[in-house]
Amino acid sequence: MASSPPRVFLSEQQIGQRIAEMGQQITHDYPSGPLYLIAILKGAFMFLADLARAIKTPTRIEFIGISSYGKGKTSSGEVKVTKDLDVSIEGHDVLIVEDIVDSGVTLTYLLNVLEQRKPKSIRIATLLDKPDRRMRPVEVAYVGFRIPDEFVVGYGLDYAEDYRNLRDICVLEENVVAP
Ligand code: PRP
Repeated sequence: MASSPPRVFLSEQQIGQRIAEMGQQITHDYPSGPLYLIAILKGAFMFLADLARAIKTPTRIEFIGISSYGKGKTSSGEVKVTKDLDVSIEGHDVLIVEDIVDSGVTLTYLLNVLEQRKPKSIRIATLLDKPDRRMRPVEVAYVGFRIPDEFVVGYGLDYAEDYRNLRDICVLEENVVAP
């Protein structure tokens, strides 16, 4: 049992409002489809579900799995694809859908992998951005919220695989243990 509930940092309503705005912007920027939404497992699954419904342009939904070696991610970029795309993205508009950009190592690696597959265009949409943590510069076209360096969970984000199903994004206080 958690000793106290996680503190709400971004409410379900705030998240929904911002995603509606992001969806409008993306719809405007991509008037014709199909737009390939590529979500990075697992954290982006909930953002993908809501963002996809906020975009009016015809989309294709794809998932990719990325894992880092060991616990701490470093700027050495020790990451690999654990679940690859099922389709070719050659000649298509691609939007990578990410829950959070932290060090930038994951996206630097993924951009490099996907650019080799010759998409027509490739951009990034992230719900959260922690610029203070950046080790690799990454150009992010669509950012939901820029946040300080706090440990956030919920709305897809986990702590040791817990909390992904919270509707709000919450800050995990130090005295809170996983349920
Ligand atoms: C998290 C998050 C991003 C990545 C960002 O994934 O979902 O994919 O870290 O960090 P970076 O910018 O420092 O590379 P995680 O490896 O925790 O996996 P998960 O999505 O399955 O929780």
